[in-house]
Amino acid sequence: MAMAAGGPNSGAKVVSLRLQYYCVFAAVGVAVIVLSLTFLSPSAMGAVRQNLGTVVAVATNSSSGDGAVRVVGGGEAVAAVAAAKPEPEKEKRKQKKAEPPVVLFNFGDSNSDTGGVAAAGGIHIMPPEGRTYFRRPTGRLSDGRVIIDFICASLKTHELNPYLKAVGSDYSNGVNFAMAGSTVSHGVSPYSLNVQVDQFVYFKRRSLELIELGLKGPVNKEGFENALYMMDVGHNDVAGVMHTPSDQWDKKFRQIVGEIGDAIRILYDNGARKFWIHGTGALGCLPALVVQEKGGEHDAHGCLASHNRAAQAFNKKLSDLCDEVRLRLKDATVVYTDMFAIKYGFVANHTKYGIEWPLMVCCGNGGPPYNFMPGKFGCGDLCGPEEKVLSWDGVHFTDFGSGLAAKHAMSGEYSKPRVKLASLLNGGSKKPSSVS
Ligand SMILES: *[C@@H]1O[C@H](CO)[C@@H](O)[C@H](O)[C@H]1NC(C)=O
Ligand SMILES: *[C@@H]1O[C@H](CO)[C@@H](O)[C@H](O)[C@H]1NC(C)=O
Repeated sequence: MAMAAGGPNSGAKVVSLRLQYYCVFAAVGVAVIVLSLTFLSPSAMGAVRQNLGTVVAVATNSSSGDGAVRVVGGGEAVAAVAAAKPEPEKEKRKQKKAEPPVVLFNFGDSNSDTGGVAAAGGIHIMPPEGRTYFRRPTGRLSDGRVIIDFICASLKTHELNPYLKAVGSDYSNGVNFAMAGSTVSHGVSPYSLNVQVDQFVYFKRRSLELIELGLKGPVNKEGFENALYMMDVGHNDVAGVMHTPSDQWDKKFRQIVGEIGDAIRILYDNGARKFWIHGTGALGCLPALVVQEKGGEHDAHGCLASHNRAAQAFNKKLSDLCDEVRLRLKDATVVYTDMFAIKYGFVANHTKYGIEWPLMVCCGNGGPPYNFMPGKFGCGDLCGPEEKVLSWDGVHFTDFGSGLAAKHAMSGEYSKPRVKLASLLNGGSKKPSSVS
């Protein structure tokens, strides 16, 4: 049953794994343990921050049994997950000389991972992942695109390649450092935000070094200066904090947001001047959580009230941080976008978007209203590619949901200051051209 849509059966090296659970919930599982450890024992942190293998092992056990997605031990899997090939050369030639090329650097978790974890772990993801848009699994935890893909398309640049994807990557328009399962809190996940920032610093140094040697570096000095630095991270941290006593949340959120502040400072010190920061989404409206935390208090729209309160409390601190950075770093543009308001709005006003079951999962089991049965993996009931379903797997958005969210995010209507994302890149100016 679980394998109904999960592709052919295994070869010898194939280990069953439902990737999406590993990517958020394994991280959360680790986070729960380690968020407490983090503040106690630096040596414990080192032990956890070994490598991806640790997390895969945890995840494999947490989902032992069947699954729609597998982990392959061998390196040959890397080729199989290779994401979309870069756009043809003519795309670059079309850009006018006067306009500097679009360059983006993205830091985040599974919500903006475009294949990083798949490449790093040599994970061979199986259909129906990717079935709606790319028509094959690309390493994204979705049936199609994630928000950053829509952003790239709207800026008329090719998809942002993962930093760790060695095969077929083109970094001329920047790098995606996002890795599924990542946290802000360092030491909790292998590719926590501070590691992603270190990777950026390494990438920048190496790129400029190549150019200095007269070789072709992917991004030049001007490219780094005009680039947009984007963050969409914190979901796994907030989810982890939910498992600690509520009187500690405030302190923990302050620590997490403090680490985002450190990341922004390091990027600024390394020349970043344009920041686009997403808050966390409506955690309490994720079907996987709504179904599993039955004891929780549900709001008028069926979402978990306490999870959403936590997400909003976290976002408030993040928004305040952006205000503070904007005041302090006068030559920087810092835009905060309220992803909670965007995603909660989809649930609260679902009929407006033609969504019948706002808390329903596309790839799941059991049918409406949730199509999600805890412990039961695979797509026993898979929605049609054209159906307006927000959640792909109970945790991550569908191509449809991400497209809708990206449109709202880029509009500037949920942003502070209220600027369109595209205005930060137009003409390469360091300040947005229109502030309303
Ligand atoms: C996973 O489970 C197997 C048997 O169920 C056990 O031998 C192994 O030690 C477990 N691994 C981890 C990392 O817990
Ligand atoms: C739902 O839509 C109405 C009308 O557009 C708007 O005023 C309201 O804020 C929306 N609710 C949410 C939670 O976004």
